[in-house]
Amino acid sequence: MVLNFSESEARVYEYLKKNKEASIDQLLALDQQQDKIRRAIETLKYNGLIEELATATTFYELGNEGKDALENCFLEERLCDYLATREITVSELNTKDIPNLKREDIPLAFGLAKKLGLIEISESNLIKVNSDYKDKLNRQRQMLEAVAEGGNLQQTQLEDFLKRKGFLIKKEKQSKKYKLLEIASYQVAEGKELYLTPDMLKSQDYLKLDFKAFDVEKLPAPKDIGRVHPLRHLCRKIREAYLEMGFKEMKAPYVETSFWNMDAMFISQMHPARDIQDTFYLKKSGELPKDRDLIFRVSETHKNGWITGSCGYQYDWDEELAKKLVLRTHTTAATFRTFYELCEEEKEGAKYFCIDKVFRNETSDYTHLSEFHQAEGFIIGDELSLSDLMAFIKEFLKKFGLTKVRFKPTYNPYTEPSVEASGYNEKTKSWIELINAGIFRPEALAPFRIKKTVIAWGFGVERLAMLVYQHPIKDIHGNDASLDWLRSYTIPKIEAEK
Ligand code: PHE
Repeated sequence: MVLNFSESEARVYEYLKKNKEASIDQLLALDQQQDKIRRAIETLKYNGLIEELATATTFYELGNEGKDALENCFLEERLCDYLATREITVSELNTKDIPNLKREDIPLAFGLAKKLGLIEISESNLIKVNSDYKDKLNRQRQMLEAVAEGGNLQQTQLEDFLKRKGFLIKKEKQSKKYKLLEIASYQVAEGKELYLTPDMLKSQDYLKLDFKAFDVEKLPAPKDIGRVHPLRHLCRKIREAYLEMGFKEMKAPYVETSFWNMDAMFISQMHPARDIQDTFYLKKSGELPKDRDLIFRVSETHKNGWITGSCGYQYDWDEELAKKLVLRTHTTAATFRTFYELCEEEKEGAKYFCIDKVFRNETSDYTHLSEFHQAEGFIIGDELSLSDLMAFIKEFLKKFGLTKVRFKPTYNPYTEPSVEASGYNEKTKSWIELINAGIFRPEALAPFRIKKTVIAWGFGVERLAMLVYQHPIKDIHGNDASLDWLRSYTIPKIEAEK
């Protein structure tokens, strides 16, 4: 069969026939219009005439020390320049102040100078600089310059530089190579048009012209364009889920007073979580709410339980501690700010959610991050019970495809009873804590004049992400996130199990 080649295809083909293999750069050099060559390569590849090979080539760049050596001079050069005009013994060397050479670098410079044959030591231990030392160093400099200009040195030439810390940085360049697979008979069929232009349409020339066929089924090369981050996507889905269920959104600041982050919800001023370990404290203090009556209600509850029937913590509540600014450790701060803002009607029944960042002074590991997202919610209603709360959580998680959920009792200073829900990770065959929840204690609600039952929960979005995407969190975000995965992950269809 005689194939029809375009002129560029024929050029690429002939080049490969002669050279067997060629790099992309060599092929692109065949024509000034690189586009044509790229298209030709793709067509030949598509027709199985040539094969694409990916190759990695190692090259070196100058590191900081290498650059310094080139711009200024080598360590051993500074030493030799100094020694060239002096008579110094080896033992005297360490006591000398040599221009531009730190004391601690003298032994290194000395070692290098000896190794490169720039100096010799006489029997009386005198150091003698060889007369050709500048020539030798200039040769070194030329080699270094060659590296800096991207030239390739032989491995043996590189070795000395590689041994020196910070001289060279090893890099890899991915490049493409092409290889001829099949010898074909062809004829150059030129005169085929590639693009339909407005002029061709106007003049109706397109009716007479012969167009090159396009393969409309073929996928274009992948492009690294911006896309939704998996966490952002999940946050959107959670938000949608809450909104669909009639929840309203609440927002609150990242920087919070301890009052809103802790005191308002009856966390004792002596609670261990207030310790520096868990909370990021700011240097400055903030302001308490102007409403002295609210401060009174909260502080009385801490001191003696106020009207709740509880005896409180029996201590002197300290206003200054409550003023301390923190990076909020949970979105429950938003919940309590919202409690304060609720109108009378909402105090009888309301549903709110908050999806936002929180901060904890924790060491990051497989399941912990010091900055993460919580998706919190609460429902105020009549006679809500723990089973309502658990049912809600199960229902909510179902929306994210999670059906294997288990509960266990836990402790929160502000909820009683409190539960923790875990989801099962099918991939790692382990349970992972997702949600901390409970029913707010009267001591947390009374200062906000809420008399109904309030069930509430807060869950870790990153934890849920691990289950939804079946990927460790370190791949999803943070310094070690896997860019390859982020660029290629498929957005999962999160659908409720029917
Ligand atoms: N504040 C809790 C946490 O950070 C979550 C929670 C919110 C628990 C509301 C109970 C009620 O883990």
